[in-house]
Amino acid sequence: MNISVIGAGYVGLTTTACLAHIGHHLFCAESDAEKLDKLQAGVMPLFEPHLESVIRGVRKAGLLTFGSTEEAIDRSDAIFICVGTPPLTNGDADLSDIEGVARAIAKRASGYRLVIEKSTVPVQTGARLRRHLSVHGTSRLKYDVASNPEFLREGSSVKDFLHPDRIVVGVDSTRAESLLGQIYEPIVKQRFTCPIHSECPRRKNPVFLATDTNSAELIKHASNSFLAMKISFINMVANLCEVVGADVTEVAKGMGLDPRIGSAFLNPGIGFGGFCFPKDVQAFIRIAEKSGCDFSLLREVEKINQGRIGWFIEKLRSEVWVLRGKKIAVWGLAFKPNTDDVRFAPSIEIVKALLAEGAEVRAYDPQAIDKAKAVLPNITYCDDAYQAAKGAEAVVLLTEWEEFRKVDWCRLARLVERPLIIDGRNALSAQVVAANGFHYIGIGRASAAPQLTQSLVASVCE
Ligand code: UGA
Repeated sequence: MNISVIGAGYVGLTTTACLAHIGHHLFCAESDAEKLDKLQAGVMPLFEPHLESVIRGVRKAGLLTFGSTEEAIDRSDAIFICVGTPPLTNGDADLSDIEGVARAIAKRASGYRLVIEKSTVPVQTGARLRRHLSVHGTSRLKYDVASNPEFLREGSSVKDFLHPDRIVVGVDSTRAESLLGQIYEPIVKQRFTCPIHSECPRRKNPVFLATDTNSAELIKHASNSFLAMKISFINMVANLCEVVGADVTEVAKGMGLDPRIGSAFLNPGIGFGGFCFPKDVQAFIRIAEKSGCDFSLLREVEKINQGRIGWFIEKLRSEVWVLRGKKIAVWGLAFKPNTDDVRFAPSIEIVKALLAEGAEVRAYDPQAIDKAKAVLPNITYCDDAYQAAKGAEAVVLLTEWEEFRKVDWCRLARLVERPLIIDGRNALSAQVVAANGFHYIGIGRASAAPQLTQSLVASVCE
């Protein structure tokens, strides 16, 4: 099928790449001229595992073209809207880009178009789109509007797209449902050559859930808000564990064994970030407010999350005392591993708080340094975890990149001013860190004193 995607952010690019990979002809539009030039030249504007190779493959096969919104509207019967819906200052989602696309479709398209909103939008946006097309569309335009929320995690979006648990479509006609069924058929039946796994792990085929548009839109906001709620919940349990001497890792394990609770999203830490949870929780609160429902539970979720920054700084301060003039090594800037995205990353807020206290920040992230420089121009960026640790009074781990679990502790011990690790993600083993002569402090679990003195470390590491 000929399909257009408007917006080449990580959702738009993943959708484009994966739909082309399963055999459709894709046209992807991007309005930022510089980004479009890059894409046409084969340069990726963002880091996302597997995306570059899938895009390279489908372009080689002649299944993907990049270009303008106008061409995207002209070329395809099915148009996915994947433009940004950033937060306004009052927490509402800014829908101006969605409206811009609707205006362009109304003005330009003739014949049938299936307009699919994939961007995260407030409930009833589909209804507004329909109204817009009916008021502004030419008499030649015939259309359906559908909602098809995405559940793609940055860092694993290609895998999530090709091997989803569910595909949700909100439709109000059998034609729209049948077209979306055709688009997703290879994924529903899991019939395609997987670009990630040579042999895909055995899994159940995804559920294809067709429902009404309002419900589909709510499924997205309710899912993200629920996951955010789980994180804030376990973060409070972690605080409690620290006071009463329990281990949050054990508590989360015990809770997660109940299938009604599930073990996912029970990792405590410095809070949730990224371009989805913080803005979606805010937008969901606003949607509820405007509908006359007081969703104060979510306000508490947000408040707990915002409190994680000050709480973490306090944890650090209680160890190193005065922060002014102290070198602090920051390991990880991205809002989570396997992405270069630093939008709404708690790590960025922690670094800002450290700078405000007069600390000297030496930071390293395997992917996110370029993007971090735009928001944190005045810190020292380092080439690796060791360089960051040079002369540090404390190493704070803020993103759980795999490489931090594999550091050479002997090498590290020689570089730091004081062997102290504060693990904001519970990514490291307290026993391993302590056995290597470092003082370990995690989240919601007992800290571990170094089991070797520095002179012993020096001799062991000889
Ligand atoms: C999230 C959802 O997981 C996707 O299903 C959804 O499609 C996407 O938002 C979106 O709306 O586009 P994403 O923001 O990429 O995906 O990242 P997550 O893996 O969900 O993590 C979000 C934040 O929560 C991160 O800062 C992460 O570190 C934090 N987190 C996650 C925790 O603190 N603890 C956990 O147990 C899990």
